[in-house]
Amino acid sequence: MFAPAYLDWNASTPVDPAVREAMLPWLDASFGNASSRHEYGRRARAAIDAARAQVAAAVNAHPTEVIFTSGGSEANNLFLKGAAAMMKPGLVAVSAIEHPCVREPARQLRRLGWVMREVAVDVHGCIDADDWKSTLEARPSLVSVMLANNETGVLQDIGALATQAKAGGAYIHTDAVQALGKIVVDFRALGVNALTLSAHKIGGPLGAGALIVDKRVELAPLVAGGGQERGLRSGTENVAAIVGFGAACEAAVARMSKEQRRLADLRDSLDAVLVAAGATLFSTAPARLPNTCFFGFDGIDGETLVGKLDRAGFACASGSACSSANPEPSHTLLAMGVAPDTARTAVRVSLGRDTTAKQVTEFGGALIRIVDELKNLAAMAA
Ligand SMILES: Cc1ncc(COP(=O)(O)O)c(C=O)c1O
Repeated sequence: MFAPAYLDWNASTPVDPAVREAMLPWLDASFGNASSRHEYGRRARAAIDAARAQVAAAVNAHPTEVIFTSGGSEANNLFLKGAAAMMKPGLVAVSAIEHPCVREPARQLRRLGWVMREVAVDVHGCIDADDWKSTLEARPSLVSVMLANNETGVLQDIGALATQAKAGGAYIHTDAVQALGKIVVDFRALGVNALTLSAHKIGGPLGAGALIVDKRVELAPLVAGGGQERGLRSGTENVAAIVGFGAACEAAVARMSKEQRRLADLRDSLDAVLVAAGATLFSTAPARLPNTCFFGFDGIDGETLVGKLDRAGFACASGSACSSANPEPSHTLLAMGVAPDTARTAVRVSLGRDTTAKQVTEFGGALIRIVDELKNLAAMAA
């Protein structure tokens, strides 16, 4: 079967072979409900405990701080709605470039009497210092700022933001879904109260993730029932997915330092080709993920370009793949002050562990050819 070159690693990743190996027994003879008292249940419980230790080790947290969820979206909802449920309604502040699974639950809190504020970013996509200052002056109870943006790859200085937010009495959370496995993610060093992870972005299975949370933060569960996950996430645990998540964390962190340089070199070589071809680069902040290229060509619709690239054998994303059902231009680019027409040209290429130099070179060649074709068509139509 023809397999297009996969250049969309920020959307999802293929399961790592070591992860698949670790998961297989749990889809086969080693089944069981981890709450059962018999041998099958005890083995499942031990496997979950081992995975919890692996996830905790990957982010320098304590295993008791790991709450397994169905993924990043649920973990983000659990923090925002769960913490809000235990407080008097107040101000919830999230950055203007958050993933919808942070912005939407924050918006929903309005129904419960909360005020929601979006913290502005500057032209590079970094938190705007003045707006941050005035946000903190308004005394938020809950703050959420992502560690790495899924579209631009831009990193925020979460350590500094956490110190300032906590000094004002807020709980601060960071969505580290796109950061894990690409840069060091250290729960203690970041100093946040809670942090979100997702397995399928790091070579693990779909449908597993975690909220890493300081036990002093009181949370109400989104799913009540049998009391699994310290009562914060009821439901019979998905043992295979949790085991796969643990194995993926270990593998991703082990290969990270070698991969960082290799991916950054590939990314830089692609950036150079793009600039030479006349593209606008949207992600140029000095602190950014090593694997993400976000760009556009004047007058060329991003969706159209991505469709043509797909037919030419290259899978990449327009705007944010996580919300590609939404035809609106990228909210991240709009927040950075990019004009809507320019934002509509956006294409994201994200690289990963199987990406080769050959793929990147061939992608560059195909892109230039397709852009020329589209420009010629536009000139003929004019
Ligand atoms: C930054 C960010 N947060 C959260 C999510 C959602 O994670 P999940 O797909 O595990 O629900 C994604 C990706 O979809 C993401 O890129």
